Amino acid sequence: MHRRTLLLSGLALTFVSTRSFAAPVAIEVYKSATCGCCGAWIEHLQASGFAPSARNLEQEALYGLKARVGLTPDLASCHTALVDGYFIEGHVPATDIARLLSEKPEALGLTVPGMPIGSPGMEMGDEREPFDTLIVFADGRIEVFASHNQA
Ligand code: CU
Ligand code: CU
Repeated sequence: MHRRTLLLSGLALTFVSTRSFAAPVAIEVYKSATCGCCGAWIEHLQASGFAPSARNLEQEALYGLKARVGLTPDLASCHTALVDGYFIEGHVPATDIARLLSEKPEALGLTVPGMPIGSPGMEMGDEREPFDTLIVFADGRIEVFASHNQA
């Protein structure tokens, strides 16, 4: 019984993978020119079936963008991406973005605050810090959308 549950949740994960998209989904990524991990995250998106376009912004303009879309400093990371009216802040795994786009909740977006080691684009050898992808709602509510690198 337990094994079957595991198998089914594995199947559910497959369905929300980006491979179910017919065409690559365009996503705009705003970042600072000097941030290398943003480039690594963009490569992760490309490898996962997205079509990212990147734009470098001055630090002040980048912070302005974060504030405009509803990101408070404690929810912020390095880069800010926009897709389908949502913000995607920081090193959010592509599978979470795909799930967001298929479920289309009434929300502002997803964030992985800070820069957890072992998140997509933040690989450091075998080190994998547990981290949560958070979903931010317009009324300020924040929930865990997905947990990653659990022991
Ligand atoms: Cu980063
Ligand atoms: Cu970045």
